[in-house]
Parts: sequence; structure tokens; C-alpha cells
Amino acid sequence: PAPGWSISADVVVVGSGVAGLTTALRCEAAGLNTVVVTKARLDDGSTRWAQGGIAAALGEGDTPEQHLDDTLVAGVGLCDEESVRILVTEGPGAVHRLISTGAHFDTDDEGDIELTREGGHHRRRIAHAGGDATGAEISRALVEAVRARGLRTIENALVLDLLTDADGRTAGVSLHVMGEGQHDGVGAVHAPAVVLATGGMGQVFSATTNPSVSTGDGVALALRAGAEVSDLEFVQFHPTVLFLGADAEGQQPLVSEAVRGEGAHLVDADGVRFMVGQHELAELAPRDIVAKGITRRMQEQDAEHMFLDARHFGAEMWEHRFPTILAACRAHGIDPVHEPIPIAPAAHYASGGVRTDSRGRTTVPGLYACGEVACTGVHGANRLASNSLLEGLVYAERISADIAARHAADGLHARVPAPVEHPEKPAYPLLAPETRFAIQRIMTRGAGVLRSAGSLAQAADALQQLHTDARGALEENGKTAEPGVDTWEATNLLCVARVLVAAALRREETRGCHWREDHPERDDAAWRRHIVVRLNPDRA
Ligand code: SIN
Repeated sequence: PAPGWSISADVVVVGSGVAGLTTALRCEAAGLNTVVVTKARLDDGSTRWAQGGIAAALGEGDTPEQHLDDTLVAGVGLCDEESVRILVTEGPGAVHRLISTGAHFDTDDEGDIELTREGGHHRRRIAHAGGDATGAEISRALVEAVRARGLRTIENALVLDLLTDADGRTAGVSLHVMGEGQHDGVGAVHAPAVVLATGGMGQVFSATTNPSVSTGDGVALALRAGAEVSDLEFVQFHPTVLFLGADAEGQQPLVSEAVRGEGAHLVDADGVRFMVGQHELAELAPRDIVAKGITRRMQEQDAEHMFLDARHFGAEMWEHRFPTILAACRAHGIDPVHEPIPIAPAAHYASGGVRTDSRGRTTVPGLYACGEVACTGVHGANRLASNSLLEGLVYAERISADIAARHAADGLHARVPAPVEHPEKPAYPLLAPETRFAIQRIMTRGAGVLRSAGSLAQAADALQQLHTDARGALEENGKTAEPGVDTWEATNLLCVARVLVAAALRREETRGCHWREDHPERDDAAWRRHIVVRLNPDRA
């Protein structure tokens, strides 16, 4: 739809997690006229749910080089080494700058940042806050800083599409805003620089650790804008998510890897520690290996879940170190002080996303991507635990520096969006809100932890049918679902699900978090490469 209102800025940041708010704060500090738009409230994204922490070589004896090694091993041959080097060398400074912005991390008796371990890390290098409430503390500090600096923010604003000028350069975004005073309904923020920081797409599956807002909006927008997207097949399933029943849907409570980092054991129904002997790090192997170990044991025992046993922590440690997890378990009738926690893997993190270079630039001029929505190359086939908050921080700094440098060089000239050809008609079919659940079931059945050509082909067909039906209705009688946040979310979920399944079908090997039952081995000769997708906008 054609925008009914518009405002202008130098840069518009879409999303308000660690990546979005850090970018916005830095852009504003560089003197850029910055607007933040976000789909719900400022602190409603994934960042505030992060538990374990933020990885950086901060401890004595640790080095960026060792952090680099662990990241490359977890990424199974598909990390971009230069991007990882940037991440690990700029990481410690970025964490200290976050502290200067107002975030408080847990410290030991000497006042040094306390560090824990997580899967795939050979050292204690995870800084945490409030025990297991790291994301909540980071979000609090950044939201407070944004408010204190008086940054322009528009909440309840779902981004729709990228606006480009006649030369295909970024000119802003269109938005659907719900009930925010003067900015209500469909409008636009005109800006020559747009930073996507919209987070992930966990809601493409039935059970996920992601909040309900994680619907792949940024990747869908980028695909419709003709940007390159990479590595979507690498969906990370977190090994230990509180099991609330085989039919549980939507956001599920996470049981942080840090619980294993502090010594909890994974056990099967017979109390056997089944990860011992499978990997030198046992329960602290990289996440894909643990998720596979759990899934295999569930199959062998025909069980719906396994258990995480941390009774030996005792009440005091549970209360002090993991208060959030303790409360979530107790809210569901499980007391981890006295009983093992039922857990199963659930969708957690999109290792792929909108392809960027080391300055966060996508393949569309003026469009940037930062954080989970981006594919900077730091995660490869499987993200190392607690590298995501760090990626958001480090690349936000690089993006804001790049935009500021462009501003200094040429003044970031405003660009006039090309006129919409048929403003009265939707450019693509919108899906009915309830389609979301159909997509989630299709994806969970066909493209979950375990995949095969058969399961993926079935998923691809079912998704194609949803798309064909929606497009047919639009083309034949101009009918499409009523525009609204739920319809756009369902539309975006279908868009990203189709590309994810197509990539997973194509990658005929098992690597990192992509597990093909029909191709159980890694195939470096054929597949040590990325699947990069760029859609013809008519196909999005
Ligand atoms: C966790 O606390 O286990 C999640 C950390 C992460 O996803 O990096």
C-alpha cells in the first residue's frame, strides 16, 4: 500500500534489540538524525530473553585467537575467518563500551567480571548479568540510554518494505503503525540509510525459544528488495528447552547452556549421562552435537524428552546463579533443586540471514543488516554459544561508523522513492493470520532437527500450495487478507520458510546444525560453500 504519512531522517534503524539500539545510539552520537522503529515495545525482542551471556576474551590467559579457534570449530568450515577475527578482537572493547553505556555485569569479590562456560568454549569466557538475566540487563541499559538521549522512536511499527529510488538505492522504509498518535496506519520513514536489526525467525517453527515477534520480517523484506540472503538452512536448535509437552506451541522457556557450564548433567530416562563418550567436551560439546545427541537418545528410547540434572547445585546456587530459570521451572511445576528438568531441543537461532560485508553493508546500496537478521559470516554452519549478543554489539559499531563516514564524505543525500505503480493494489498477496500455525506445523514436521529429502520435499510442496492459493486469489479476483500485523507476519513467515526449505533441500550433506538423515556425512568437496539466494521480487 502507498504510505499515508512520512517523516525523514538520515538513518532509520528497524528493531530495538542489542544490535538496533547500539547502532542507533552510535549514529546519534555521530550527529546523525536517527529514527528507531520497532514492531512492539522497545524491549520486546529476543535480546531481553538471552540468558547465558556474552562471549568475549576477557579472562586471564584467554585471547581473541582462542575465541576465534572455538568459533571456527563450531562453524564447521563455513565461517568467514576475517569476520570472526573482527568479532573476537573488537569484542572485548565493545563489551567495555556497553558497560560504559550503563549495563552491569556480575562481578567476583575482586570486582572483575565473572565468567562462565558454555558449549564449544574451551575456556570460561561468558560474561553474565543478574545470574541468568543477561539480555534483560542489556536491554534495560540500552533502552534507558535511548530514552535519556531523546532518540526518536516509533513503537508498534511493523516494517513492510524497503523504498528505493529510481537507481535502486535505499530511500527508506514503509511501515504499518498501530495506534501511535500522529504516526498511525501505513506510512514511511524516508532515509538514505536503513539498518535492519529485526532479529530472527524462530516463529517459523511450532516450538521455539524466540518471542512471538521473531517472524523473519527483516529477511523477508530483504528478499522482496532483491538483497542476497545466505545460509538460511542453518537453523540452530537449542538442546535444552524446558519440555512442556509434545504439542507445546510458541515461545518455550530456555534452560541456559550456562547451567551445563556450571556442571549440570544431561541424563536419559535411566539416569545415564549419554553425552559422555560422544565428544571430548561431553555436555559442553558445540550445540549441534548436543542437540543431535539428545534427539538420537530420544529416538532410541522412544522418549519425548531427556533430562537435565542439576540437583547437586543446591537451593542457594540455583537461587543466586539461575533465578530466571528456577522461576520458570517452578511456574511449570518442576523444582530443579529436587528433580531433574525435562528438556528437549527447540528452534533457537538463525545462523544465516541477509548477507553483509564486514561493514554490515548488504548487496542493496544503503541497506545494512545487523545482529541475528544478518549473515556476516561469523557463525558459519552453527553459531558458537553467546556469540550473538557480541555480534550485535561489534557490527553495530562498525555499521554506525560506516554510515557516519559516508555522511562526512557526501552528506548522506536524501533520495526520492520511486513512485508506487498501483498504489491501490497490494504488490504481493497477504496471508490470513491463521496461516502462521499451518506454516509452523509444516516446518516442524519437515524441516526440524532431523531432515531428509522426503520430509523437506513435503514441506516445500505444502508451503508452495499456501503461496499458490494466496497468489491465485489475488490475481483472479484481487482478494487478499486484510492488512494488519498478523497478516504481514504470516506473509513474512511463508516467504522465509520457502527459502529455508529450498536451501535445506539443496544442501545434500550434514553439517553443523543442518542434519540430513539421508546424507549423514559432511561433504567438503561438494558443500564447503554457501547457498546464497536472491529472489526475483515477483517471486517473493
Ligand atoms: C543460552 O543461555 O544457552 C543461550 C546462549 C546463546 O544462545 O548464545
